[in-house]
Amino acid sequence: MAERRCVVVTGAGQGLGRAVAEAFAAQGDAVVVSDIAAGLAIETVRSITRSGGTATAQPADVSSEADMSALAAKAAEEFGTPRVWVNNAGVSRPAMLHKMAADDFDFVLRVHARGTFLGIREAAQAMMAGGAGGVIVNVTSSAGLQGTIGQINYAGAKGAIIAMTKSAARELARYDIRVNAVAPLAATPMTEKLRTDEKLSRRFLDQIPLRRFGTPEEAASAFVYLAAEQSAYITGQVLSIDGGLYMVS
Ligand SMILES: NC(=O)c1ccc[n+]([C@@H]2O[C@H](COP(=O)([O-])OP(=O)(O)OC[C@H]3O[C@@H](n4cnc5c(N)ncnc54)[C@H](O)[C@@H]3O)[C@@H](O)[C@H]2O)c1
Repeated sequence: MAERRCVVVTGAGQGLGRAVAEAFAAQGDAVVVSDIAAGLAIETVRSITRSGGTATAQPADVSSEADMSALAAKAAEEFGTPRVWVNNAGVSRPAMLHKMAADDFDFVLRVHARGTFLGIREAAQAMMAGGAGGVIVNVTSSAGLQGTIGQINYAGAKGAIIAMTKSAARELARYDIRVNAVAPLAATPMTEKLRTDEKLSRRFLDQIPLRRFGTPEEAASAFVYLAAEQSAYITGQVLSIDGGLYMVS
């Protein structure tokens, strides 16, 4: 049996983060389930423990320095130095750019860009002190890779996450800390409108070569891979799990 690692997942109360937390727990890791919504985090922990896994809940707003430092402390106290840290929490506030409120721009940037920075920093400090290396996986989007309509705030934030992933990968490689990002497309509460609005969903599905939304579990397997020994030579990369929506031409 492989060593049980301490894995931290933010935004793990529902959607993709929940599937990621469950996937790590299913392979025997101990998971710190974090979310701004404490009740959702507790539900994820219950589901993991019901299946025989190990997890604990720690509510945190990823954009709060105090919350993120408390999250790192809780992880170390419960399960030892984090070996895997997933910066997944996210929000969206769509609007066409000529009508977008500056506050909606700031809010989305704050959660994604500042939140991911704080997560990377906490993970790096803990992993560097631990001396045994580690893996950080961030969450970006096709919006950050190719732009999108009606979400300039979200696309800007996800683009920033790609640049931060590459910078952190370069900076942390000397400590044997790998940093990668996943760009998913999955059926979660965040994509509900896109999937249920008939016109919107038909137009969107037309752009996906595989012609369907992925499941959160399909995306979660990429996180498990990027945290595994099998990906030991991969750092600074963005892995799209999106049915072919984004392709480099
Ligand atoms: N679902 C997709 O197709 C898709 C596509 C591209 C990128 N993403 C990204 O994947 C990640 C997960 O998205 P999802 O689809 O599961 O969304 P979701 O809305 O279903 O879940 C997001 C979770 O993050 C939590 N959260 C929100 N703000 C937070 C904060 N400040 N601090 C801590 N937790 C917070 C929410 O409570 C929620 O549990 C996000 O970063 C999102 O941008 C999703």
